[in-house]
Amino acid sequence: MNLDSLLSVSSQQLKEWALAQDQKDRLRGFREQFYIPQQNDKSVIYLCGNSLGLQPKNARLAINKELETWQNHGVEGWFEGESPWLSYHKYCQKGLAELLGTLPEEVCPMHQLTVNLHLMLTSFYRPTSEKCKILTIAGDFPSDQYALETHVASRGYVPSEVIIEIVPPVGEWLIRTEDIVAAIKSHAHELALVCMSGLHYYTGQLFDMREIVAEAKRHGILVGFDLAHAIGNVPLQLHQWDVDFAVWCSYKYLNSGPGGVSGVFVHQKHHSDTVPRLAGWWGYEESRRFEMTKGFVPMKGAAGWQLSTPNIMALAIHRASLDIFEKAGIENLRSKSIVLTQFLELVIKRINQKIGFQKIKIITPSELSQRGSQLSLLVEEGGKELFDFLVREGIVGDWREPNCIRLTPVPLYNTFEEIWQLENVLLSKLNAI
Ligand SMILES: Cc1ncc(COP(=O)(O)O)c(C=O)c1O
Repeated sequence: MNLDSLLSVSSQQLKEWALAQDQKDRLRGFREQFYIPQQNDKSVIYLCGNSLGLQPKNARLAINKELETWQNHGVEGWFEGESPWLSYHKYCQKGLAELLGTLPEEVCPMHQLTVNLHLMLTSFYRPTSEKCKILTIAGDFPSDQYALETHVASRGYVPSEVIIEIVPPVGEWLIRTEDIVAAIKSHAHELALVCMSGLHYYTGQLFDMREIVAEAKRHGILVGFDLAHAIGNVPLQLHQWDVDFAVWCSYKYLNSGPGGVSGVFVHQKHHSDTVPRLAGWWGYEESRRFEMTKGFVPMKGAAGWQLSTPNIMALAIHRASLDIFEKAGIENLRSKSIVLTQFLELVIKRINQKIGFQKIKIITPSELSQRGSQLSLLVEEGGKELFDFLVREGIVGDWREPNCIRLTPVPLYNTFEEIWQLENVLLSKLNAI
């Protein structure tokens, strides 16, 4: 949708446009399914779903159900009750598969993200004397950097010698896909793996994963993605793109609670028993797990990478949250998200126009195919002060040093009217009304 015609309309006209959008929004009923935090007896404008998604109201019911199973069945809850815990991961596989574009058996909720990244590196970083390097992006999420650095060191390599980082052009924020592709081509003879975020946590840039994988495959290089900021935000097609593995967390767009369960994707072609892995009893073939015999026999699919007894309460929330996604549909969410984020972008442009200079610079790409719902705003002077003001006014985004405010309208629970309100609040601070 081209929103440029709204650049110079009055605030009242903009409000009317926003209200009309909310009125015709077929997803608007989903907001009612979430608890919106309150401040001074008013709902805050929560634009922080990229960090911690809001609590779905069905989360408490889901936990209560499992508490009841525990209360009534004790240890037999693993085998009895409405949803026996033994196979609990299976209740989440269909929902995850839809979000990620995979077969159900290619995905499994488990552990935490960084732990899963190490598990995937154990299986898919297969260095040889010629091909031992990993290509990644500079400035990726710190936990991923630490994981790569310590993982290669644990295999006897010097991180600075085997990790190749692609940087943005000088003076720019965004890394060009063509630079990643060119680097894969030029380093193909020494690369064992490409491993990077699919959507950058700081800039909000969505990478062209399909193209990156296609180039890597031309040279027989394996590819893995961290999808913490992509899952539930943009539709994905991991199986079709031929991605080898992926990991994510569920506490951001997936609204599954602080420290909620993570998950892994392992492409079907890697499901053989002989793939090297670190194993635990929960990845052991389920039908024979309690025979407690010697010698690891993995479950088929991604589930074979589970190590430990899962946290059923965390899985119960995750399942309840995935249920909401199944009802809303990721394509419908994406359609709304595109316009909602365009509207936020328009509001920032209007503010700069009213002030008469570019006070707030959007570093997230303007191309729709290169971003999800997050916009990263650079405010060179007084950024933290502006951010703190927003928090006091009940507008929740998040702050990233040294001068970045990340704002993320989430299609499940944010409205166009909220974004219109943001314009007024920002302008009141910037003294330009
Ligand atoms: C892109 C990205 N990767 C990794 C992590 C770390 O996840 P965890 O603490 O669940 O291991 C985060 C956390 O926010 C993240 O945003």
